[in-house]
Amino acid sequence: MKEKLKTLFESHFGGTPTFYASSGRINLIGEHTDYNGGFVFPGAIDKCIMAAIKENGTDKVRLYSVDLDASCEFGLNEADKPQEQWASYIFGVCREIIKRGGTVRGFDAVFSGNVPLGAGLSSSAALESCFAFALNDMFNDNKIDKFELAKIGQSTEHNYCGVNCGIMDQFASVFGKKDHLMRLDCRSLEYKYYPFAAKGYKLVLLDSKVKHELVDSPYNKRRASCERVAQTLGVETLRDATMEMLEAAKDKISEEDYKRAVYVIGEKQRVLDVCDALERGDFETVGDRMYKTHEGLSKDYEVSCEELDYLNDIARECGVTGSRIMGGGFGGCTINLVKDALYDHFIAEAKAKFNARYGHEPVVHEVIISDGARRVE
Ligand code: GLA
Repeated sequence: MKEKLKTLFESHFGGTPTFYASSGRINLIGEHTDYNGGFVFPGAIDKCIMAAIKENGTDKVRLYSVDLDASCEFGLNEADKPQEQWASYIFGVCREIIKRGGTVRGFDAVFSGNVPLGAGLSSSAALESCFAFALNDMFNDNKIDKFELAKIGQSTEHNYCGVNCGIMDQFASVFGKKDHLMRLDCRSLEYKYYPFAAKGYKLVLLDSKVKHELVDSPYNKRRASCERVAQTLGVETLRDATMEMLEAAKDKISEEDYKRAVYVIGEKQRVLDVCDALERGDFETVGDRMYKTHEGLSKDYEVSCEELDYLNDIARECGVTGSRIMGGGFGGCTINLVKDALYDHFIAEAKAKFNARYGHEPVVHEVIISDGARRVE
């Protein structure tokens, strides 16, 4: 990818750029908990966005997206927001750095990626983190710390892309470490790396190819439900709520909001169970909680879809250890924890059955846990 970007940079803008990359992410468990102050368990993966960037001596940013074969130019003032959605991620990162008192000068960039779009692997966080990391290195002597880099990406989503997301994706993309998952407490931002070597198991994603689109989606509505319930219960976030508190206030909460909260409160405990289980190497418990999360996301949180429920059913029928919808939902992938011995059978079954019902096979991505944002030498 680097060589290709180098050649394209030369032909579009000329000169010798610096290269940066950042990764998409998986999440083992802890879904829709980040904006509720809870725990998540993500890791960066070997699919990334890479950019070739060089200061251009003007006050303009000029971009070329290889994958879209599209160009865009914008200034760095608030009024200069580009029309193109893809470019507004990068514009947002520039603006959020400037708003925090950081420096961004004009630059040229060519970028490309292999994080599948709309698959729930956080291609947008990878893009934001790649540019946040790069602009910190190029213009700010790396003085912006990594937490702030993640928050710059998150604020970009909030203020320039219309998604009221939590911190998980950008955190994973910035802090990702090869062969490690991270347990992040989204309230305190304390985190711990967990070496992830599930000996005898594989983690595999099955992409339903149902495109998820979080902008203007029910995602923001889910968050609003959680905030309403927290307010009714008199807690800051659902992190501090218990099932007993929820039951006691049931008649003051709509049926829909109640179901959303049941899911979130249950998920908090499941993440902690998984952490304990991982310390013991108890993958059966990890898998059991993954299935329970899927059930909650499908029935109570209602962010699954028919295709993903079907992939989950196939996993269960095949005896796969754990399986669930991953990411924001409304499409995208399931994440599956599969015993090595079962792997080939499961993949073959999933392809055949899904194809028979929906007329195409799910796309298989084997997951390799990798480093997050970085300069590429
Ligand atoms: C999306 C958001 C994250 C998180 C997940 C669900 O990926 O960007 O902040 O809320 O959905 O866990």
